[in-house]
Amino acid sequence: MRTKVKDILHCKYPEALEGKTLTVCGWVRTLRDQKSFAFIELNDGSSLANLQIVADAGNLTDYADVLPKLTTGASLSVTGRLVKSPGKNQALEMQADEIVVYGLCDPARYPLQKKRHSFEFLRSIAHLRPRTNTQGAVSRVRSALAFATHLFFQQKGFLYLHTPVITGSDCEGGGEMFRVTTLEKGNNYAEDFFGKAAYLTVSGQLNGEIYACALSDIYTFGPTFRAENSNTSRHLAEFWMIEPEMAFADLKANMECAEGYLKFCVRYILEHCKEDLTFFDQFIEKGLLERLQHVADNPFVHLTYTEAVSILQKAPKQFEFPVSWGIDLQSEHERYLAEEYCKKPVILTDYPADIKAFYMRANADGKTVAAMDILVPKIGEIIGGSQREERLDRLEEKMKEHNLNRDDYWWYLELREFGSVPHAGFGLGFERLVLFATGMENIRDVIPFPRYPGHADF
Ligand code: 4AD
Ligand code: MG
Repeated sequence: MRTKVKDILHCKYPEALEGKTLTVCGWVRTLRDQKSFAFIELNDGSSLANLQIVADAGNLTDYADVLPKLTTGASLSVTGRLVKSPGKNQALEMQADEIVVYGLCDPARYPLQKKRHSFEFLRSIAHLRPRTNTQGAVSRVRSALAFATHLFFQQKGFLYLHTPVITGSDCEGGGEMFRVTTLEKGNNYAEDFFGKAAYLTVSGQLNGEIYACALSDIYTFGPTFRAENSNTSRHLAEFWMIEPEMAFADLKANMECAEGYLKFCVRYILEHCKEDLTFFDQFIEKGLLERLQHVADNPFVHLTYTEAVSILQKAPKQFEFPVSWGIDLQSEHERYLAEEYCKKPVILTDYPADIKAFYMRANADGKTVAAMDILVPKIGEIIGGSQREERLDRLEEKMKEHNLNRDDYWWYLELREFGSVPHAGFGLGFERLVLFATGMENIRDVIPFPRYPGHADF
């Protein structure tokens, strides 16, 4: 039976493993050849650290035959005895008794040699980059954050809802959708597969509202698609979004849920991903661990949009986009508020109705809506949400103003006709959460296979 490297290196009582004979499998990271013996650094992806294996001519009858095959990237199975390591980096190392080489790896062709590569280059070899320390660590933290997401919402009694990827409606009413079609030519969508125009979803929210208005608390966690041509380090054409929706909830309950969720995720990885986060703290963002602990321990700042605008107008800083009440905040504004002014996550509420989606609940002032965005240092917007307009007449008015066709949303309106309830929800961009958690700079490096303009490889 095979043992994972993690279960050896992260074992609580390494002494208990001393003297045991086990089998490990993995890929050679490096080899140090000392003539009559060699050190193999073996990695199987279960942890950042490699298992050190001593291959000794005295122990291995086929040593001379095997040694030249142990190149960086080669895949092996090693059976051997665990002994106390004289090195200070690990408690245990393995004395190899048998080495089976599964796959050779030609050093003249294998691109992941010792030298450090740029993240940009690594994107062009997305089939090999998970074998690097950084991509391995990102992948493990990403997986832990997904697990923490389910844990948080399940513990709170939310129902996990699968909303469709293909949709006939445009949730945000904003366009920027990818079309799904089987038509060879023309645009007669009545003849198309679904008998109407169909798209890849930009959000599961409207479907989520249907289920919240029956089962109370739901969340979605799935891929979403936006055909916006934004070539930035914060945007993808395909990204994963978590969208909780709560019945009998107002904006305050929504904000509490969002803050609780973010903090839960941060605490979860601080507890379960220590090794990887320490790596990010050392090599990607100095001070990361401290920043995350600070997020976990302190309440978020609350500001209204109107307060934020006045702070920005007084800021001792020249913005590229001038600030006045009514503008859509740009990323430079969002980052100033979170990074420099508040120095921690900030929840902005009560945005002008004109810059927000039609479904957001109108405030009594007639100018603003019960919206909330959470902005965090380094990234800007990580969460966007609102209380929903549950009053039928208000919603109908709003749809008219937004030039939306009533017939396209008849079912959405009927939710307001039959047992309407106050409800609220938000969407968190999962890749932005991974950026926030790891200190990585570019969103293309925190999803296994990034999709952005001109790139749909692998
Ligand atoms: O603010 P957005 O557009 O909100 C919605 O889609 C609502 N329907 C959510 C809801 O209330 N249920 O998107 C939500 C979040 C953003 O805050 C951002 O983190 C992320 O999704 N996001 C993107 N992430 C990566 N690439 C993109 N192109 C993104 N667009 C939005
Ligand atoms: Mg938004």
